[in-house]
Amino acid sequence: MAHAQDQILTPRPTGSTIVPEKIREGIDLEINGRPYRHTGDDQMPLLWYLRDVLRLTGTKYSGEHGEGGYDLVLVDGKLASAISLPMLHVAGKSITTVEGLAGADGKLHPLQQAFIDENAIGCGYCTPGWLMASVDLLNRHSQPSDNEIDQLPNLCRCGCQTRVRRAIKRVANGARA
Ligand code: FES
Repeated sequence: MAHAQDQILTPRPTGSTIVPEKIREGIDLEINGRPYRHTGDDQMPLLWYLRDVLRLTGTKYSGEHGEGGYDLVLVDGKLASAISLPMLHVAGKSITTVEGLAGADGKLHPLQQAFIDENAIGCGYCTPGWLMASVDLLNRHSQPSDNEIDQLPNLCRCGCQTRVRRAIKRVANGARA
């Protein structure tokens, strides 16, 4: 009995040839320090890969264009909207999500601890986005001004902005590990 592969390559009786199925190429990327290969739709937004495929649900839906900043992640260390990035565009990239902020030993990132210490969390929906944007801000400006903090692209429906600002300042002023 012929193997399936033989059958694919066997010419049709009509004379035409069945084209062998294209080998599914994967999109290799790294997420929170671990390697992954995506073999599905290369236009799938990174957000749905994180949430629906990997079950990394910390990154939240933030509208079709990332309004609100709830879907922010770091891509090769730069802040990016996960809904706006098709998987094809993150091939070979290194992604950090909110799940990747804590240390391997479970120790919270200084900003996570500061958000807790300043009670900068209401319902928590916006918190992952704030954390990623704040990490990015502190990477660029170790002592950000109030104005720079106010320009972060994050919205909070629970009114935590003032406490978020205090948390960022707490880290900037020396609580950072
Ligand atoms: S804590 Fe609820 S939206 Fe910000």
